[in-house]
Amino acid sequence: MGILCCFQSHAGGGGGHGQDVPSSSAASPSSATSWSGHKDRPLPERNNSVDYSNLVALVNEIVGDSVSYRHKRVAEEILKMGKAGKVTARAFTYAELFEATGGFRPESLLGEGGFGPVYRGRLPPKSTGPEVAVKQLDRNGMQGTREFLVEALMLSLLKHPHLVTLLGFCTDADHRMLVYEYMPLGSLEDHLLDLPPGRAPLEWATRMRVAQGAARGLEYLHDTAQPPVIYRDFKASNILLDTGFRARLSDFGLAKVGPSGDKTHVSTRVMGTYGYCAPEYALTGKLTTMSDVYSFGVVFLEIITGRRAIDTTRPPDQHNLVLWAGPRFKNKRRFAEMADPMLQGDYPTKGLHQALAIAAMCLQEDATMRPAISDVVTALEYLTVAGGGGGGTDIDDEQGPDPDEQQQTDDDAQA
Ligand SMILES: Nc1ncnc2c1ncn2[C@@H]1O[C@H](COP(=O)(O)OP(=O)(O)OP(=O)(O)O)[C@@H](O)[C@H]1O
Ligand SMILES: [Mg+2]
Repeated sequence: MGILCCFQSHAGGGGGHGQDVPSSSAASPSSATSWSGHKDRPLPERNNSVDYSNLVALVNEIVGDSVSYRHKRVAEEILKMGKAGKVTARAFTYAELFEATGGFRPESLLGEGGFGPVYRGRLPPKSTGPEVAVKQLDRNGMQGTREFLVEALMLSLLKHPHLVTLLGFCTDADHRMLVYEYMPLGSLEDHLLDLPPGRAPLEWATRMRVAQGAARGLEYLHDTAQPPVIYRDFKASNILLDTGFRARLSDFGLAKVGPSGDKTHVSTRVMGTYGYCAPEYALTGKLTTMSDVYSFGVVFLEIITGRRAIDTTRPPDQHNLVLWAGPRFKNKRRFAEMADPMLQGDYPTKGLHQALAIAAMCLQEDATMRPAISDVVTALEYLTVAGGGGGGTDIDDEQGPDPDEQQQTDDDAQA
């Protein structure tokens, strides 16, 4: 089982923007139609019901006058996703975001990833406006720009209850920022792998629900988005948690528009995160939706075991979670060894066995043997309803009607 693969996401580095005095210039460029006017590479034909003006402005701002043909191609590819509803992401000025985050003060810092720091803030009206997370691009260069563009365009066009909502972006002067809906419970990593002292571990039923929500997010990307999207960076820190532990996928900077026509894969530079990426992708650069299914398997194994995909603080034979799990998957008597000790045995035995079976299928080395994510969703459905109910709060009871049901209706309406 499982060869390990090997590429750290977000190579980091780069200059970064200072916290300078806010500029009052508007983020929207004045040349809002220049890119769409390129004669050699016109924008793809668009569904008239979709308002793209913000996005055209964004693309103009970032690549309109630059020489980056590749960025333009990336933008074109993504803008083919014309099925989404009205684009609600809007351009923010630096001054607005400066105000919202209290001047990007250290106390507002939520964390820092490879992209740059993320600040908590609130949009007007003061004290009642929506809470936001503002991510500052802290890197110069082509890769940072590409990720910014991909994330902004993808999240503007993709809408689903299990994807984080992008409220807008800032391209004021040299600033590159993304503004998201604030996720009050942080990331799955915070609750599963980085537990501060005193925080209760996630109950089994909550774990299954988070896994199911994340799988539904992937299912939307693979099966509903048109063209399909390969997420490429599925990991615990990118699964944010809304109220009621609703999983919301974030960080689309590495996402790829999937293969079209008869093609079964896209060839690409290997990017992703060490410990999560599929062996065939790491070896060949051939990316398919099955690469995401493998990464899902790794995260699901983290959810079950409470162990990190890669943990060099453990003894050497336990550094790599998938390799550690391999022999245990083959022996039913060892299944209980794999349950997170923090659960203190409070899980349904049948549910554990089924969850491990799903994880093992997703982690098959032969990508063609892995289940489609829609099958995983179905299996998890069964597990959350029938087999996962041991000892957890039924979140749906607290939340009222399941918004996923609502989304189903919305999707149907759009189809
Ligand atoms: N919308 C949000 N609401 C609340 N917290 C957020 C939001 N977006 C990001 N965060 C928090 O900000 C921190 C940094 O996130 P970021 O995505 O930049 O990095 P990461 O996921 O930790 O690492 P990587 O760069 O490898 O993806 C994380 O702790 C994350 O939980
Ligand atoms: Mg992240």
